[in-house]
Amino acid sequence: MTGGVAAYKSVELARRLRDAEASVTVIMTEASARFITPLSLETASQNRVYRSLFDDPMAHIALPSAADLLLVAPATANSIAKFANGIADDLLSTCFLAATGVRTLIAPAMNRRMYENPAFRRNLDSLRESGVLQVGPSQGFLACGEEGIGRMAEVPEIIEAAAAALTPKDLAGEKVLITAGPTREYIDPVRFISNRSSGKMGFALARAARNRGAEVTLVTGPTCLTPPPGVLCVSVETSDDMLFEVQNRAGIDATILVMAAAVADFGPECRADSKIDKTDLLTLTLKKTKDIVATIGGGGRRPFIVGFAAETGQNPDRAEQKMRSKGMDMIVFNDVTEPGSGFDTDTNRVVLIDRAGRHALELMSKDDVADAVFDRLREIKA
Ligand code: PMT
Repeated sequence: MTGGVAAYKSVELARRLRDAEASVTVIMTEASARFITPLSLETASQNRVYRSLFDDPMAHIALPSAADLLLVAPATANSIAKFANGIADDLLSTCFLAATGVRTLIAPAMNRRMYENPAFRRNLDSLRESGVLQVGPSQGFLACGEEGIGRMAEVPEIIEAAAAALTPKDLAGEKVLITAGPTREYIDPVRFISNRSSGKMGFALARAARNRGAEVTLVTGPTCLTPPPGVLCVSVETSDDMLFEVQNRAGIDATILVMAAAVADFGPECRADSKIDKTDLLTLTLKKTKDIVATIGGGGRRPFIVGFAAETGQNPDRAEQKMRSKGMDMIVFNDVTEPGSGFDTDTNRVVLIDRAGRHALELMSKDDVADAVFDRLREIKA
């Protein structure tokens, strides 16, 4: 930690890293200890806090040697200038200099004019060129009362960036196209047919693929979720929109397509141009939507295709049938009636099905399901 107003967020950061089962050792600069007490960090990290080069004569070598990740949050303009120029005049900057070969991530935080200053930008560019990763800053209200770029990234974003930094890049070179969320099939300009998909499964897949080094495009129906940083996010509404985007993108250069979207299977035969009066008696005639994945699966040159099967009941046979009839390489069965699984949950219990067999997994977070899908995909592709 270095000394900035954003230092208060570092207490929460240390706690959340612990929750994610990381072992956390905090190094505080003297300036950071003016904003937050070392005791708060000791409590949050459940570990000793280091402050001075002279606390322990070999700490500047031992601490970076033992670390998988050196994360500086907040990283002030002064600390970034020191890191970029090899200045080692306190414990943190000396650890930074000694951390060769250790993945390093900085979360800059400062006034917008400082962030835009050419001298600072040179330092930041030079750190990035030497492989230092950066998360944030974001736009918003700054402690000085001004508005602009310079707010330290929020804790969940820093945790995500830390996870990405620590993940082996075993999908590097892959171009992964993922669909998420529901589609809306309009009856009239204000009413539509849809389903309960929140997009959580598809977004988890996008984060996992990005963390593993893939170039990721996420085509998503309407959700309340924040697009994952580092992912190209394309918003669509109807199944026709989704079909258009998937066809264009899968055809061009996707090497993997993962269809986690709950595409509406039916839509109204006609869409009224104006709001249907509620006094009118209404009979809706439905027609099937076009099957997106089958369109891609039936094509010539096509990506590796993973589908999802939302079933009501333990029916993996039906899922396998879908995989075969739609030309997929793999399908992920989930029983959407099971508590903790399917729509709008943070967890899922799935069976991974491919042409070589089935793998039933325990109930786990959607992030872990996403990683299990890519683990299996890599085994099949190998
Ligand atoms: O978004 P969440 O709230 O996290 O919920 C996750 C989920 C339950 C939506 C997800 O895990 C899931 O099961 N997604 C697939 C839902 C679905 O449409 O299943 P299906 O069995 O009806 O379709 C099989 C496959 O065909 C799916 O990959 C689907 O994307 C695809 N499909 C379906 C219809 C259509 N017109 N075109 C398609 O491509």
